[in-house]
Amino acid sequence: MITILNHPLITHKLAIMRNKETGTKDFRQNLDEIAGLMAYEVCRDLPVKPITVETPMGNCDTFALKNDIVLIPILRAGLGLVNGINDLIPTAKVGFVGLYRDEETLKPHEYFAKFPDNLKDAVNLVLDPMLATGGSANAAIDLIKERGARNIKLVCLVGAPEGVEAVERRHPDVDVYLAALDSHLNEVGYIVPGLGDAGDRIYGTK
Ligand code: PRP
Ligand code: URA
Repeated sequence: MITILNHPLITHKLAIMRNKETGTKDFRQNLDEIAGLMAYEVCRDLPVKPITVETPMGNCDTFALKNDIVLIPILRAGLGLVNGINDLIPTAKVGFVGLYRDEETLKPHEYFAKFPDNLKDAVNLVLDPMLATGGSANAAIDLIKERGARNIKLVCLVGAPEGVEAVERRHPDVDVYLAALDSHLNEVGYIVPGLGDAGDRIYGTK
């Protein structure tokens, strides 16, 4: 299932990020803010369990989140989504997948992986601002499924139709959330109109 979060605040902030004149500081700040707004929607259907709490006036039958939540940023750029979501879910655990995309082949290469040990029973949010060919997202999802993850949501800012199709084909059980679905990939695998190279813009490396 794919959900595109057409919300005026998200679109407004994403427009600032897309603007090539936007510098690192504002790029990061808007990414942080969008991450929080997206988290609210992504978590809308999280399973809950009944609990009873004692208020100053008596007992209240209510609900609490049922599962652990694990945030899994795809390094580097996915790290930019962690703080905004963690602000809303401070108890979330964080795992990491280090992948870089070979500029010639566009294939992902793994250089790091470290996860908490409860992926099987957790709701796992895989985070990456960009879903281009879908190779990196698919590789990250492959990796966490090998470690038992079953409940997986992929949270990206900007997606290309090619990437969405690739993830839907390989992992039809994974829900995909985007802030925007863009037009296409260019000849070197960048999303058009997109926002350029997310990692470089977050970390000022170009
Ligand atoms: C970017 C982006 C995604 C990937 C998307 O990362 O953050 O991880 O490319 O492309 P794909 O869908 O075609 O795999 P990159 O490999 O540039 O690494 P970085 O985050 O370290 O800059
Ligand atoms: N990675 C990025 O950072 N941007 C794109 O447009 C595609 C892949």
